[in-house]
Amino acid sequence: MSFISDACSGIENPILEQGMLAREMERNGSKLIKINIGDPAGYFQLQKNIAWAYKKAIDDGHTNYAEEQGLLELREEVSRRYSKMYGVGFHGDDVIVTQGVSEALSFLNQSLINSGDSAVIFKPFFTEYLTYLKLSGGNAVMPALDEKNYWDINITELEDQMRANKSKKLKYMLITNPNNPTGTTLTEKSMREAIEIAKDNDIFIVSDEVYDEYLYNGADFISVGKLAKGIPHILLNGASKNYMATGLRVGFAIFPESDKKTQELKRSFLGLAGARLSANTPSQYAVLEGIKNREKHKQFMDEKVLQISRQANLASHLINETGFFTAVQPNSAFYLFAKIHFDKLDIKNDKEFTELLLKEQKVQLTRGSGFGMPGFIRIVTLPSEAVLRSAIERIKKFCEAHKR
Ligand SMILES: Cc1ncc(COP(=O)(O)O)c(C=O)c1O
Repeated sequence: MSFISDACSGIENPILEQGMLAREMERNGSKLIKINIGDPAGYFQLQKNIAWAYKKAIDDGHTNYAEEQGLLELREEVSRRYSKMYGVGFHGDDVIVTQGVSEALSFLNQSLINSGDSAVIFKPFFTEYLTYLKLSGGNAVMPALDEKNYWDINITELEDQMRANKSKKLKYMLITNPNNPTGTTLTEKSMREAIEIAKDNDIFIVSDEVYDEYLYNGADFISVGKLAKGIPHILLNGASKNYMATGLRVGFAIFPESDKKTQELKRSFLGLAGARLSANTPSQYAVLEGIKNREKHKQFMDEKVLQISRQANLASHLINETGFFTAVQPNSAFYLFAKIHFDKLDIKNDKEFTELLLKEQKVQLTRGSGFGMPGFIRIVTLPSEAVLRSAIERIKKFCEAHKR
């Protein structure tokens, strides 16, 4: 019998799984190109006013536990942001500050999932979705997003899967827009239809919008908050991506609706927030400063997103040009998701591909199977054009060496 609980045994994050080998290679003098982690704070400096506010919060003695729900001023600023950007109205009381969206995902599954319950998670998906669902003993129903249709929701497949899993206890449907790992946005039409399906099947809607400020190449984005008015749902967002502040660990769980389910879930989140006492207090002051100064923030992000769009477009062009991959050109977030043409290679799957690529060409990236979509690789497009160019040169060289 294992000392570790059944739920926790085998938990790993595919994005980090090569970390040990990578560190060992670096210790032995290898120069790696790491394009596996979507951490903007590793590439861009924190906005100066946010850094200043963080230091000031400490100098001012804000190192106590904050209210378990989060700083009221921050929660109110979050509600102003949504009403200004998306016309979605709610109050500071409808927001709970979490330690990143990750903690909100943990709260979500602890709150809703009993062993044997299920949730609808579109694949490819962000790795943590499945981890937290499984930790609570849940199972995923996983309709595939439609690669041929710019990774939009495939409504026919969603309907088929809903029908096939009717006997299961489906608790929530998780929509991610913009998407990690595909770097694409969903159409308003498909979202409206998916929301309608969730409503008809009495399934709670969860919308992860953590990349909603990374839009380029003419991307359209619409918040679920705008589309699901009157329908039970929550919105998840935070400072990790939009404020390039991954290490501050600030997320927002937003409960805009007054229906019974949404309010019950909010109470459960509040209980869990109380159980862990507080989110990081100085970080909340820092993010408050960031959100308050909308113009400063917009200027900062416009510049960074323009740079990221150039990098993403270059990477997309170069990877397709190798002849060993097809990748949908991204329009959001900072990822490129490329399908490997195994018919041209002597490699059997994406796990082997990423392992050998690291060993032979010193490029670290993430396998598609980690996101529920085998046969793909995910490239993070945060590094400079020069770094991405040389990473893709190495990938090409690797493929040439493994040509059938
Ligand atoms: C779609 C998505 N949601 C949530 C997270 C986690 O965010 P946080 O740092 O706020 O926990 C990530 C991180 O990469 C993500 O890609």
